[in-house]
Amino acid sequence: MATRPDFSLTASPGRHLPVAVRGEGCRIWTEDGAEYIDACGGAMVMSLGHGHPRLVEALKRQADRLTFTYRFSFSNEPMLELAELLREVSPMPRSWAFFNSSGSESVESAMHLALMHWQALGQPQRTRFVSRWPSYHGSTVGALGLSGTARRAPFEALLDEDAVAHAPMSDIRSGLSPAEETARGLAELEAAILERGPETVAGVFLEPITGASAAAVVPPDGYLQGVRELCDRHGVLMICDETITGFGRTGTWFAVEQWDVAPDVITFAKGVTSGVVPFSGMLVTGDVADVLMASPDGFPVGHTFSGYPLGCAVGAEMVRVIRDEGILDNARLMGERLRAGLDRIAAGSPRVGQVRGLGLLQGIELVEDRDRLEPRPGAALRVAEAARERGLMIYCCPTALAGRVIQCVMLAPPLNISADDVDEILDRLEPAIGAA
Ligand SMILES: Cc1ncc(COP(=O)(O)O)c(C=O)c1O
Repeated sequence: MATRPDFSLTASPGRHLPVAVRGEGCRIWTEDGAEYIDACGGAMVMSLGHGHPRLVEALKRQADRLTFTYRFSFSNEPMLELAELLREVSPMPRSWAFFNSSGSESVESAMHLALMHWQALGQPQRTRFVSRWPSYHGSTVGALGLSGTARRAPFEALLDEDAVAHAPMSDIRSGLSPAEETARGLAELEAAILERGPETVAGVFLEPITGASAAAVVPPDGYLQGVRELCDRHGVLMICDETITGFGRTGTWFAVEQWDVAPDVITFAKGVTSGVVPFSGMLVTGDVADVLMASPDGFPVGHTFSGYPLGCAVGAEMVRVIRDEGILDNARLMGERLRAGLDRIAAGSPRVGQVRGLGLLQGIELVEDRDRLEPRPGAALRVAEAARERGLMIYCCPTALAGRVIQCVMLAPPLNISADDVDEILDRLEPAIGAA
């Protein structure tokens, strides 16, 4: 097939990516007829796969009625409905909601909310944040400043070093027991708060399970509870970025539920609409929302498309589908099946250093040899390419960590995936790891 002219800026100049023309469930087809199993939802987006009929129908229904309202002029029906539905599934008491169009936007909104919260309480000096390294919270300046990732490098000049302190995240190479790792992680986080001055810290930002920057690192038990306790002790907000882990990815509505932790703010994006429309949001615990809603200006920030009716309509349908169709049970069950298969592959491959994750978010760390956990240079890209050649899309996420580049890939198939498709993913992945 003749290559079409391509005037869109891409990350692969000179290389033409295949043109996707159709998607259904966990499969995507290109114009030359090739079929791929999308085992990572692009970037952990496709929570119900491509073109879920109920979500598409909800989009069409709303598009026929009303496509846009401006938040300073009107509310809209799906926004009211979604905020109410989310109250029922939020792990935080009396949740309020705010909606945007991307993960980065919602992280920015959470930063704005934290500062405004402290201003309303007469503590305007609380302007700093503590986050972790590695981490990824988005590409806008505030969100990138929070992030602990090599993606910052070209933009360091824009990022305010003083505004954010980064504490190290747990590392499988530490050789510590989970209890020791918890104690170490909490001590480092507290040291970062103390170093900046607790009275100047507005919030601690963290992904409950570190996603794209480290391939599904699950914290040791006790860590998130410890972060909650730390935040309470120093009077700072606990803000969890569930852009990847929210809306059932790990088998619960939100990943923090796995440890029974209620943060003050949760941001979400990606899976909330399974790619049907760009959408995101944040949930805010009742006590924090009360402060802002009692102040004369409320929460006067956001973006032109905050509260977008089409996004809200699809998001509301997503909540109903997850609730009505046993999606969380399937995510847990299929997550166990996927994990068992990955553990079996790992047992037969010295190149797999660790399989980690929860539910249908699973990461694989590729190493030179398993005992030394020495990264195998270029392995992540090679495995992702070998998988693509076998019609399998996986997420490639090499991570700069402690002077080395850790080689990881990640899987995040749809939450409604069938057992047959999980097995098909494993059948294609195993030879890809072997070949690479
Ligand atoms: C944890 C996390 N937060 C925020 C973002 C940014 O989301 P977006 O790319 O939609 O702005 C991402 C994107 O990968 C993410 O993984």
